[in-house]
Amino acid sequence: VIDIRKLYAQTGMFTYDPGFMSTASCQSAITYIDGDKGELLYRGYPIEQLATQCDFLETCYLLLNGELPNETQKTEFVSRVTHHTMVNEQMQFFLRGFRRDAHPMAVMTGLVGALSAFYHDSTDINNPEHREISAIRLIAKMPTLVAMAYKYSAGQPYMYPKNKLSYTANFMQMMFATPCEDYEPDDVLVRAMDRIFILHADHEQNASTSTVRLCGSSGTNPFAAIAAGVACLWGPAHGGANEAALNMLEDIQRNGGIDKIGDFIKQAKDKNSGVKLMGFGHRVYKNYDPRAKLMQETCREVLGHLGVENDPILKLAQALEKIALEDEYFVSRKLYPNVDFYSGIVQRAIGIPVSLFTAIFALARTVGWIAQLNEMIGDPEYKIGRPRQLFTGSARRDVQPLAQR
Ligand code: ACO
Repeated sequence: VIDIRKLYAQTGMFTYDPGFMSTASCQSAITYIDGDKGELLYRGYPIEQLATQCDFLETCYLLLNGELPNETQKTEFVSRVTHHTMVNEQMQFFLRGFRRDAHPMAVMTGLVGALSAFYHDSTDINNPEHREISAIRLIAKMPTLVAMAYKYSAGQPYMYPKNKLSYTANFMQMMFATPCEDYEPDDVLVRAMDRIFILHADHEQNASTSTVRLCGSSGTNPFAAIAAGVACLWGPAHGGANEAALNMLEDIQRNGGIDKIGDFIKQAKDKNSGVKLMGFGHRVYKNYDPRAKLMQETCREVLGHLGVENDPILKLAQALEKIALEDEYFVSRKLYPNVDFYSGIVQRAIGIPVSLFTAIFALARTVGWIAQLNEMIGDPEYKIGRPRQLFTGSARRDVQPLAQR
């Protein structure tokens, strides 16, 4: 590893690295990925153990504090988060300004940014107490905001948080209960949703996390920095891939199903077609994404529990995966399923509308963004992020009077 800052100070040289293929933007002790082995650790703990032995709020505590909580710490953390699940009533008037058919990520970008207008006691990103309380507020309120965005789009009344429920059961209650009918938490589905949250909680310096760091590095408030992360996550090359992957599977199913996979794969291999195999490939994983394996298991569990294990979309996904993993194009480029390939099938089975998938990803990733923001600001070497450029425009020239141009 070359410390390019020293080289720059000595020689004035800097690197040209579009897409940050080989540039580390920071030092971090939060998440470790070994892309060749297909390994993912949060604070040293394998994702497989966290996903099967811990819940999402324990994982949040771990990402924020570096250690898993003991019982007392967990109780205190859960109680603090639970205390902040409501959002200011004014938020519903803000939400009402959106069209009902607005994309939930458009709504979430606005709602999360708007939180900074409500909590003036937690907007100083350089103040550790402000960062701490804004972190609790964001983690607590994201489920409420996502559920509000959903209820608004469905034309249903908002359901208030029920603090006697767990974090994830409460989210599902706010999504699926109505004033006419309570939501009885289904343990298997709640556990599956909680696992989706854990698997999406952090993933080191991906595009949205780097966006949050860059945005926060200017000294903006934590809510604004997280809203920037939500906006970046929306793209189909990043968090939007879960929605795009399910839309792709449904599209293939509508146009002939398993028999048409060959035609689809042919298109995905053709660079001019504009088609990609969504939910496949990753900048860092050059082996099976460990989150995709866990998601595939969760998918089987959920569909089995609901008695729909023969779901045609799951069969199609499995057949598509098998064909792609035997195809020279995908093998030679080390393109494997990523977390998004199966997460859409699980969420759809739970009853989540496709357009909400990325908002749920944002809910889960919020804690990772906050942990990364805190780490950056706590680093004595932290500076405003300010990439350089290679200028390719015109050389100096003089403005001509309008009549002569
Ligand atoms: N389908 C077809 N070809 C692909 C795919 C794909 N899904 N992914 C990569 N390739 C090809 C590229 O065209 C390129 O081919 P080439 O070497 O012949 O030019 C090669 O594989 C390498 O891919 P790059 O695009 O250079 O890899 P990069 O690291 O820039 O992109 C990315 C990674 C954005 C994830 C890409 O694989 C992709 O677009 N995948 C589909 C979208 C997706 O699933 N995104 C979710 C990522 S995970 C997450 O955000 C949670």
